[in-house]
Amino acid sequence: MIHRKKCDKIKSSFSIPLRVFGYIRQTFWALVNHRLKQRPPAAGRRKSGGSSVLQALSFCFHLFSILYHDRLVLKMEYKFSNRVQSLKPSAIREIFKYAADPEVISLSAGNPSPEAFPTKAIEEITASILEKNPIAALQYSITEGYAPLRETLKDYMKKTHNVGREFDELVVTSGAQQVMDLTTKALCNAGDVVICEAPSFIGSLNSFRSYGVRLRGVPMDDDGMNLEALETALREEPNAKFIYTIPNFQNPSGITMSLEKRKKVYELAKRYGVLILEDNPYGDLRIEGEDLPCIKSFDEDGLVMYAGTFSKVLAPGIRVGYCIGPSAVCQKMIVCKQGEDVHTNILAQMIANEFMTKYDYPAHIQFLRDLYRKKAKFAMDLMDQYLLPKITYKPIQGGLFIWCTLPEGVDMPDFCKQAVLRKVCVVPGNAFLTDESEPCQCFRTNFSTPTDQQLEKGIKILGQLVNELI
Ligand SMILES: Cc1ncc(COP(=O)(O)O)c(C=O)c1O
Repeated sequence: MIHRKKCDKIKSSFSIPLRVFGYIRQTFWALVNHRLKQRPPAAGRRKSGGSSVLQALSFCFHLFSILYHDRLVLKMEYKFSNRVQSLKPSAIREIFKYAADPEVISLSAGNPSPEAFPTKAIEEITASILEKNPIAALQYSITEGYAPLRETLKDYMKKTHNVGREFDELVVTSGAQQVMDLTTKALCNAGDVVICEAPSFIGSLNSFRSYGVRLRGVPMDDDGMNLEALETALREEPNAKFIYTIPNFQNPSGITMSLEKRKKVYELAKRYGVLILEDNPYGDLRIEGEDLPCIKSFDEDGLVMYAGTFSKVLAPGIRVGYCIGPSAVCQKMIVCKQGEDVHTNILAQMIANEFMTKYDYPAHIQFLRDLYRKKAKFAMDLMDQYLLPKITYKPIQGGLFIWCTLPEGVDMPDFCKQAVLRKVCVVPGNAFLTDESEPCQCFRTNFSTPTDQQLEKGIKILGQLVNELI
């Protein structure tokens, strides 16, 4: 109410001078045009001094009007919505600014390895779609997604993961990120609670925050969420709308939830009548051990919304993800999506479908696993050599991240800053907490984007830095 009154005051104090100014400007331009029309410059005749003066005057007036207008606009106070007022740019995006310096070694991004992209296949597929089916690829399409891709994904997820029941629906989204956004939009009121792992993926946390929800963090054990803390949170938060979990090779901690815990998390969600949002961008990137069933595969009660994506297995730039969840929730999400982007890029959806159906998709996944196994092992060997015992890390079984812990006595934010000054970027661990002001001794590293030489140089610098600090 107070904001509105202030805004109205600002508007009304500007509106009269702006309007008067607009009339003077219009009249002046009309006079100039009229005068110039009356005296068209004849070919070969010099313009009269009068029209030059008029033109110079009109130029000055025009310049003045631009400056004056800008001054008025710059004085404007922008009143952002309560929902977005406290939002800050993600720490990772901020760090990307440093990482853009070609001399900086970025161990901060979560980008797939450049070697992982099947560029030749994508080139062939795109050319063939544009040759054989250009109109479908360029025309508007339906919000729930390109029908052949939806069928391919339903079939694939059922056969390989036992995901999808009669009561479920599949919606193609613009990346998995949009699943977080649409789920929250469809289910949460401001003041509701989302229970999430602490630490957790900053992109999702920011998406939840943008709807004014409160985040309740549940600390992580080495095999996933601490179950006692999860149950306490469920008991204490009657407005909890969903539990957000990344069960495979979690971003940022690299932790994988054990099978036993997956079942218990499902049981708890069922007992307290709270949905689970299961985010699984890294599940296909296992480099060691046996694949574990998704929580969604236990779902006989319409309790789980599953988020998948092509970002880590095909290319993040195509922005194709999907969700499989209870039809009633998906229907609301479809309506919300209509207001956001109408539908996901149709050419990109067709490319994803062709890649899954006309190429050897399982062989591609195997290729990625082999590639990342090599890279992850290389990074962990370097950590053994240069970081241990002062900086410890959690060995991973998949995914793209290694979570490192600094010894007591080293200030984590200062360590990350000093690393940047030495041209190595890592992500401060508190960026992934539900409350960023909590103390944290950890930082996140990534091994998929840098080259082997960069990895070696970067990890060596981190080791030297910690040795100088303690
Ligand atoms: C855990 C997690 N969820 C979701 C996303 C978003 O993925 P997408 O590119 O499909 O939007 C990421 C991206 O890094 C992620 O790490």
